Amino acid sequence: MTEISYDAEHQTWLIQLPSSAYGLGVSADGRVVRHLHWGPPCDLADLVPLAAAEHAGRRTGKIGWGHEEPSEYVPWGGPRYDEPTLKADFPDGTRGIEWQLTGHDISRSADAVTLTLDLADLACPLRARLHYRVFHDSDVLERWATISHAEPAAAGGGDGVAGGPIVLRQSHSANWWLPRREHWRARYLTGGWASETQPAQTTLGPGKFVLESRRGVTSHHLQPYFALDDGTATEETGEVWGGLLAWSGSFRLVLETTPGGSVHVSGGWNDFDAPIELAAGEELTLPVFAGCYSAAGQGGLSRSWHDYQLRHVLGGRGRTGGPPPLRPVLYNSWEATGFDVTEGGQAELADLAAGLGAELFVVDDGWFTGRRDDQAGLGDWVPDPAKFPRGLDPLIDRVHELGMGFGLWVEPEMVNPDSDLYRAHPDWVLHFSGRARSERRHQLVLNLACDDVADWVFGTVDGLLRRYQIDFIKWDMNRHFSEPGWPERAGHNPERMWVDYVRHLYSILDRLRAAHPRVAFEACAGGGARIDLGILARSDQAWTSDNTDAWDRLPIQEGFSYAYPAQAMVNWVTDSPNPLTGRRLPLRYRFHVAMAGTLGLGGNLSQWSPAERVEARRLVARYKEIRPVVQHGRQFRLASTQDGPLGAVQFVSADGDQVVVLAWTGVRHFRPWPTRLRLAALDPAATYRNQDTGEERSGASLRQLGLKLPDDLDYASLLVRLERVS
Ligand code: DGJ
Repeated sequence: MTEISYDAEHQTWLIQLPSSAYGLGVSADGRVVRHLHWGPPCDLADLVPLAAAEHAGRRTGKIGWGHEEPSEYVPWGGPRYDEPTLKADFPDGTRGIEWQLTGHDISRSADAVTLTLDLADLACPLRARLHYRVFHDSDVLERWATISHAEPAAAGGGDGVAGGPIVLRQSHSANWWLPRREHWRARYLTGGWASETQPAQTTLGPGKFVLESRRGVTSHHLQPYFALDDGTATEETGEVWGGLLAWSGSFRLVLETTPGGSVHVSGGWNDFDAPIELAAGEELTLPVFAGCYSAAGQGGLSRSWHDYQLRHVLGGRGRTGGPPPLRPVLYNSWEATGFDVTEGGQAELADLAAGLGAELFVVDDGWFTGRRDDQAGLGDWVPDPAKFPRGLDPLIDRVHELGMGFGLWVEPEMVNPDSDLYRAHPDWVLHFSGRARSERRHQLVLNLACDDVADWVFGTVDGLLRRYQIDFIKWDMNRHFSEPGWPERAGHNPERMWVDYVRHLYSILDRLRAAHPRVAFEACAGGGARIDLGILARSDQAWTSDNTDAWDRLPIQEGFSYAYPAQAMVNWVTDSPNPLTGRRLPLRYRFHVAMAGTLGLGGNLSQWSPAERVEARRLVARYKEIRPVVQHGRQFRLASTQDGPLGAVQFVSADGDQVVVLAWTGVRHFRPWPTRLRLAALDPAATYRNQDTGEERSGASLRQLGLKLPDDLDYASLLVRLERVS
């Protein structure tokens, strides 16, 4: 049961989640809101001795050398030297914050409980409201802060009585304190283009471990994700603490060990090159930094993240209740045609895709004016008359007649210098006056922080959605920021671009979703460079990686599953040899790998043999049978290709009745090799029937003896469906 309760006598709060708890208290002088507990469930009364121990700890600290208070929102100010959550400069030259707790409140809605704590600086007009929100059905604690400059805005728009803005030098969303342990291991997700979300780990020693992006987007390189344990947690056992930041721009997570043996994590948008001037009367809401504790290992933590996102994040901000609708099987033309998109070619692919069972047909890059390759056209979002002499409507009608939804690729945050848009508005891009404008993929970044540009982006996509019968938008973004200037704002905090860009992007997507509720959105950024809770709250799915080689894909998909649910992860079955790696893999294997998320087809279907098409049609049909369990079920990672050439995952429906197992091998040496795959999370006393062979076995047998793995040496795969029959 989720609840937040307050003990007025001891000034403690307890946030109870279904399988965990979070406790806070107040220092003896009433000034510091102090962290007391994050871990297993406990009672409000359990916090009293913890609070007393913290007070005692302070008293016995050696003069001047004690540990920093585990403050819930660490200010830079006074004698503390750990990572600040907030650092501010005031107009009178003061550069330190001293908090005082001024109020607190617990509010309840139908599906959530929220604690707010109000902090005020003792001398300057800086306020922080800390938010702690928990949903009744989730173990995830959402934390964020609202920062405000409390002076009334001066008449005539000046900066306030004290004559200037408050400058936020670092404004993280939240900071997390972990308990004391001998060792700490951090797991995180790293990679690059075509190798995103690779699981990685490190031992935390003295000092700081920083995960960040300074690229303007979340990045291929690092995810705003961490998972911490004392080095003993396994996939299904042990305590793990994790965090995910809901921010799609530059971010920074700082993990620091404390001299006391704890870990302190502070995170939010990246302060690098990004001071924020807060004018009198201005308020700034920081992104959610969500945390989650699991006593069921890394797998338990992942499942909590999945449940939370399926119920409260994916497919629309603030959506509550059951999981989002199942995602359709899509076909995307990118790997088949590249930029060579024509009405005839697309119609032919649409016929073939429909024949295989695709439910959504997506026209990728190349459909708009001047887009013969990646050197021109971005910005000019009208169908290319050379490729679509009759416009897009006939193709859209054809796709709809075939019973599929119609999807269109856009990259509206970008412009090619060779475009009418750039010729008309060369000042709309990020740049410094008089400096080179570095192109990547021959394109520049439109400055979405600028109101005119954001309005244009909204208007352009809204116009397409109004003009055409579009059911799905693939929203791409293919380069990182450089020369992040905003000359128009010179002298007026142009660095706000880093933050306002993302805020405007969110507002554009929110407005588009509100105006076109039938349209689904796919988040894409040159593969998976912008996948995070912030963009997923405005998307129905995400393009995981441009690497569609099924074997390469396994660690990418595994890492993705650490943080995000299978439904959000789109996987295409493409050609063999794979266009990127040249690897040849069986069609069935490619399907079995792609089936571990939202299935897509991305190959050149006109080159597939009749036999391959028959097999593909059968496998698409099979995916549709397992889709509810994969997209909405609970996921158990059974084997990892990080440990050897075998990966396997198991999905279990919410009621436990349906089970799907997918397993894949890589290149194997001929030597003794595990021949069986033990299953997880089955009722030992229940009987399960293999839906293909009819064989019945007990849950105990499936857990202990497992399923037989395929004998083929290399690139073999397995799909098993089980149903609980008693
Ligand atoms: C990058 C995406 O990840 C690809 O799927 C494709 O849409 C290309 N961009 C098109 O330029």
